[in-house]
Amino acid sequence: MSAAHLYRTLVIDDDVCIHKIFGSMLSPALIQPPPVNPLGAAAADAAHPRATFPVFEIDSAFSGEQGLAYVQKALAEKRPYAMAFVDMRMTTGWDGIQTIGEIWKECSDLQIIICTAHTDFTWHDIIKQFGHTDRLLVLKKPFEVMDVRQLAYALAEKWNLFNQARSHLQRLQKLVTRRTAKLRKTNLSLQHKIAQLKKAQEEQQQAEQQRRMMEMQLRQAQKLESVGHLAAGIAHEINTPTQYIGDNIRFLEKSFARVIPLLRRQEPLLRAVKAGEPTAALVAEVEQTLAQCDLEFLLAETPRAIEQSLEGIHNVARIVRAMRDFSHPGTGEKIEIDLNQAVENTLVVAANEWKYVATLVKDLQPDLPHVLALPGELNQVILNLVVNAAHAIADVVGDGSGGKGTITISTRRCGDWAEIHVRDTGTGIPEEIRDKVFDPFFTTRPIGKGTGQGLAIARSVIVGRHNGALSFQTRVGIGTLFTIRLPIQAAHADQPAREAA
Ligand SMILES: Nc1ncnc2c1ncn2[C@@H]1O[C@H](COP(=O)(O)OP(=O)(O)O)[C@@H](O)[C@H]1O
Ligand SMILES: [Mg+2]
Repeated sequence: MSAAHLYRTLVIDDDVCIHKIFGSMLSPALIQPPPVNPLGAAAADAAHPRATFPVFEIDSAFSGEQGLAYVQKALAEKRPYAMAFVDMRMTTGWDGIQTIGEIWKECSDLQIIICTAHTDFTWHDIIKQFGHTDRLLVLKKPFEVMDVRQLAYALAEKWNLFNQARSHLQRLQKLVTRRTAKLRKTNLSLQHKIAQLKKAQEEQQQAEQQRRMMEMQLRQAQKLESVGHLAAGIAHEINTPTQYIGDNIRFLEKSFARVIPLLRRQEPLLRAVKAGEPTAALVAEVEQTLAQCDLEFLLAETPRAIEQSLEGIHNVARIVRAMRDFSHPGTGEKIEIDLNQAVENTLVVAANEWKYVATLVKDLQPDLPHVLALPGELNQVILNLVVNAAHAIADVVGDGSGGKGTITISTRRCGDWAEIHVRDTGTGIPEEIRDKVFDPFFTTRPIGKGTGQGLAIARSVIVGRHNGALSFQTRVGIGTLFTIRLPIQAAHADQPAREAA
């Protein structure tokens, strides 16, 4: 059985007898239940747990003012009263109504029972004074024991429930406050994290932008550098045909000068023949001029000179065209590209880089579909691979005077990919540097020969800008094969190069 509740009860009445009456009516001894047979106690407890009867601790105040003082003291001790029985009429000081008003100002949840024998206050007056309230009951004198007890029990229970509800509410309130604070803290830290993430994202975007910018600048620089480098070779390439075009034209000039006297003799000879009187002197003169100009030699050599000149002009035109296509400024947009043509152009402009050390084998698939690509950048990649191949071969054959190596360039369609293979018979790439060759600025070449950017740029162009792949296979002492793979767009997949051209 749980311990009985103790309810502090205050009786405010100027009549000593009334205090006595309440004392006896609510005395703990009187209201305890009758003792239970000790033998049957356990069984009875289990079947019908005994009710816990409240215990009332009664204090007596003899005026409203004293009652208020008691209430204040009880509050200060944190042992508040559960209920108060208040006499309506008191001989000195406040009457019941005023007393109740003053007490509720201090302790608003005190349950009050107005004790009255008079009709001078109607319920209506009370409502007018305090509004509708459930904390107030009226007990008419003379008191019935049962009435008083029932009132006291009911109010005790009510006060108890009210307090329970209140402390439950307070607990809930505390919980809510705690959780709200926790949520607020979580929210704050989330906001902080979001801000941090946002900042990191922005920084990453900036870094990415800078990286792209630097890459672009590097590509541009390398392009300029290789164009500068190629320019010397191209000048040389153009110089040779230009020279023999010049030689041939000078030969033709001289030949023509020698033919002119012969041509000039033709007219007088023709006139004399028409007149029917060609003189022996005239004939001898023509014969002498003919002998002097060595016509047989001229007839034999002139067509060759013309043919050679035309060939030279064709070569120059080819180099110029290849240069123009190779250094295609581009619009920054991808366009349809014939990879075979790109390979041809690159080989022409880079001829001076490879032709002394390598013979070239071309194996280009004629119906290779076009790919969408950035022409300038793609040409640069092919050039980088061809130059690397030539350098690797030069490392084996020296200046090529004792025999050349071979560069084999082929193009192939492989499913949805177009591939360019650049194979060389150079040194091969030693095992220990294979995972470094694509690193920016990694080079095994002496200063001035290599910058270590060729393959780094090739990869960023092929993988980064074209969603392609760049890989190599190599054997030291045998050579290396670099493979560029570029996606063939669905729209062009079945369209051979020559149809699209
Ligand atoms: N075809 C190749 N054969 C052998 N080694 C190669 C070949 N291509 C590249 N390499 C190696 O990779 C390195 C990096 O190449 P690259 O990025 O083009 O820079 P660079 O040519 O300026 O050195 C070269 O220095 C070389 O050691
Ligand atoms: Mg290189």
